[in-house]
Amino acid sequence: MTKGRTGNGFADGKAWSGRFREPTHRLVEAFTASVTVDRRLYAEDIQGSIAHCKTLEKARVLTPGETRTIVRGLEAVKSEFHRGRFKFAPHDEDIHMAIERRLTDLIGPLGGKLHTGRSRNDQVALDVRLYLRDQLEDFAKRLQGCQRVLVAKAKAHRNVPMPGYTHLQRAQPVLFAHHLLAYVDMLERDKGRIQDAHKRLNVMPLGSGALAGTNYPVDRRYTAGLLGFPEVTTNSLDAVSDRDFMIEVAAALSITMMHLSRLSEELIIWSSQEFRFVDLPDGFCTGSSMMPQKKNPDVPELVRGKTGRVYGHLINLLTTMKALPLSYNRDLQEDKPALFDALDTVTTSLEVLTELMRRLKVNRATLKQAAEGGALLATELADYLVGKGLPFREAHGVTGRVVRSALEGRRELASFTLQELRRFSDRFDKGVFARLTVQAAIDRKAQIGGTARGQVEQRIRRLERMLS
Ligand code: ARG
Repeated sequence: MTKGRTGNGFADGKAWSGRFREPTHRLVEAFTASVTVDRRLYAEDIQGSIAHCKTLEKARVLTPGETRTIVRGLEAVKSEFHRGRFKFAPHDEDIHMAIERRLTDLIGPLGGKLHTGRSRNDQVALDVRLYLRDQLEDFAKRLQGCQRVLVAKAKAHRNVPMPGYTHLQRAQPVLFAHHLLAYVDMLERDKGRIQDAHKRLNVMPLGSGALAGTNYPVDRRYTAGLLGFPEVTTNSLDAVSDRDFMIEVAAALSITMMHLSRLSEELIIWSSQEFRFVDLPDGFCTGSSMMPQKKNPDVPELVRGKTGRVYGHLINLLTTMKALPLSYNRDLQEDKPALFDALDTVTTSLEVLTELMRRLKVNRATLKQAAEGGALLATELADYLVGKGLPFREAHGVTGRVVRSALEGRRELASFTLQELRRFSDRFDKGVFARLTVQAAIDRKAQIGGTARGQVEQRIRRLERMLS
């Protein structure tokens, strides 16, 4: 069958159709296309192509005149994208083909020289690295923005005690600020993972060709310099088939999402009628179509709900890679939907949760009351007896009996008289009452990382400096 040539010189609109007897089946065309997903890489694709073009000029593969025309053509294509004027053709398989096709529309057959010494395999590896460099910088800033909101909230409530929990049972009093700063530390590690992934993906793959390298005397370090990469990849097979960097990003994003999900879970619990520790801002809740009294915590629920989706993308990427022979295989095209959706999901979750936290109303009185109730000071009582020379295990036993008696008599620990306490151990004296306050319990946790007011205030100051 003879094939018609379209205006751009691609038979059937395809760059590779020369060796084929029949045109691509329409089902296959739709099935293999990735342009709806990878179109977001247009700016990086053009940036990479301009650097490639200049590298070809330096290698004397393109003349300065040809280079100028191609670069100008690429700039024109970019401006079409910027103005929302770019028109995809039905045959555009991916963003790389679409841009080259349009370039050839604009400058004629010279556009066909751009792809000299390059494959879409090294091209797409470059594009995603360029894209992620920007995205990760942006994401790290967003993490920092959330940290700032949490630190400000902590500072505004730096003297508010609350019950600290283990097993979701009231355990010991802590500062509400200390609880919030726990999330600031988590996000700090998240930032570190993102910066680390950024460092490792900042390597330039162009010049690897389809898999074996390139026949043209291109100066790969020159290309890297033009694109701001400190290093070039050192093995062409690895360069076109490596997706470690995406897996690292997806793993880092999964961990962040896990942190956001934990915070969400606490917000859901805290805002329940049973706790009433916080009030979620109205603008971040929804009502029920049936029950007029309801105010539902949909935002944190959705963050929690979207977490599995992000983990799924990580597993998707790992599974794609697990039995993939070197080097490029088309399976790799499935990387981008996973990566992009993971990025989008975590970014929007972080954004909405940050704004929710900024507006969160903290019910100081409820928190304080909860910290004072129950037997949260039992450990203080035990430590007090240790101070009086009792071995900790014995002190624990004595205190346990005091607690049982308090529970049976429905009383607070602090309501016991000295006489009553001395029935459990003769080591008790009147100094015990100074120990049996929430404030004293908190302030004695004065080592680095403890919940004492002094520690928490110092941490807030340090974080403010660090995050400014
Ligand atoms: N759209 C492809 C991808 O995302 C680009 C590379 C295609 N290479 C190829 N030999 N078919 O992976």
